[in-house]
Amino acid sequence: MIRILHVSASTREASSRSRIAADMVLARLRESHPDQSIVERDLAARPLPHPDVGFVEATALPPKAHTEQHAHSLALSENLIRELELSDLLLISTPMHNFTVPSVLKAWVDHVVRPYRTFQLSPEGKIGLLRPRPVLVISACGGGFMDDMPGETPRTTGKQKDFLTSYLRYVLAVIGLTQVQILRLEHQNAPGAGDITDEINNWADQVLDQLEL
Ligand SMILES: Cc1cc2nc3c(=O)[nH]c(=O)nc-3n(C[C@H](O)[C@H](O)[C@H](O)COP(=O)(O)O)c2cc1C
Repeated sequence: MIRILHVSASTREASSRSRIAADMVLARLRESHPDQSIVERDLAARPLPHPDVGFVEATALPPKAHTEQHAHSLALSENLIRELELSDLLLISTPMHNFTVPSVLKAWVDHVVRPYRTFQLSPEGKIGLLRPRPVLVISACGGGFMDDMPGETPRTTGKQKDFLTSYLRYVLAVIGLTQVQILRLEHQNAPGAGDITDEINNWADQVLDQLEL
């Protein structure tokens, strides 16, 4: 059996392009892996709190120094990390907000990327502590990207930089998740933004068979 964790972040429901794409990918995974379970972590429907002072103090201490109060401050983070640890595949579907992840998804990252728990500090840098597993990221945005036009600004090109997918790749690697496949859906606000079925299926054709599950 494969266990899928779907972390979603769009405030839109039926009209959300990232949710439509995620549903299609999940349907394909149901066909290829009928024996599966899915945990839905909908960050827009149930937003997480931002890190508070109790969380900040507790995360700075090694577990052996934790008091009951520290453990209490980390309880939600612990649940979210357990949810991630129990998954064989992580699917993140998200809009782009101001060139990067929406704040609800950033809050999830802040709860699961934790020293002593999901990464270890070392003189050589941060070492991920999670078992490797495939990660699929689907991002939807209204504009188009200018990855190959360094130095240009949105004002001169009408295009934008993508800090979302580079950020997620980087921060997931910190906790040990380096097998990340990304689908970027651009121009999703354009009047008459078209059918994305082919784009999603083409991507799924390339990616899903290669997953090491
Ligand atoms: C607060 C906010 C910020 C946004 N920022 C960007 C952005 O920086 N770049 C972009 O291309 N689209 C931006 N958009 C548009 C969304 O990314 C786009 O509508 C996307 O399709 C939303 O995802 P969804 O269809 O899954 O809901 C923004 C939308 C909102 C509400």
